[in-house]
Amino acid sequence: MGADAAIGERVAAWFASGHRPLPWRAPGYPAWGVLVSEFMLQQTPVARVIPRLAEWLARWPAPADLAAVPAGEAVRAWDRLGYPRRALNLHAASVAITERHGGIVPSDVDALLALPGVGPYTARAVAAFAYGIRVPVVDVNVRRVLARAVRGVGEPGPARTNEELAVMETLLPADPERARLANAGVMELGQTVCTARTPDCARCPLVDHCAWRDAGYPAYTGPAAPR
Ligand code: ADE
Repeated sequence: MGADAAIGERVAAWFASGHRPLPWRAPGYPAWGVLVSEFMLQQTPVARVIPRLAEWLARWPAPADLAAVPAGEAVRAWDRLGYPRRALNLHAASVAITERHGGIVPSDVDALLALPGVGPYTARAVAAFAYGIRVPVVDVNVRRVLARAVRGVGEPGPARTNEELAVMETLLPADPERARLANAGVMELGQTVCTARTPDCARCPLVDHCAWRDAGYPAYTGPAAPR
């Protein structure tokens, strides 16, 4: 196993041994629920999403249920989550899923990408988390972990999308279930331990496998990320 694959396995084991019990991580959670959660999480913190997600799924348990009501109802239900365009896109996605995919959220990244409001991150997150497909999932928290553990720099800087996807792919264990745990685990690590301002290295499963730590935590001198 190369150094990179060892990172993925370590993080998968760390995640499996005690992650936050977020609803969309429960076994058997529906793919539709994962898709709705990712729309909500695009601009809203986890704690505010959890109650609204449960209400949403109680009201519209499947894509066809949402597709059957006018888009305005989705926007009204979205309400305090902000950025109501997400509600319009989610409604349009439910219509496309109903019409093109027989009401089943697709598992293929390209089919997901063709849905309204679904970008590269969301398409990969749904394929990986809802369907257990071995595809790299890269968000801003993952980018920071990769920058530090693999590249040895303190901040990810401007997006290097293809390179970051390729690096994340090399970290993923070959077994799809271990790969799912590694994807979710690197994201969780970036959200809860390897945070931007106060990384808590004492709690990190990569404490002895981190290029940034090995280099003595050099200050970041690269280009700033665009804001
Ligand atoms: N933020 C966006 N997607 C997430 C996920 N699947 N788990 C935790 N936080 C997230």
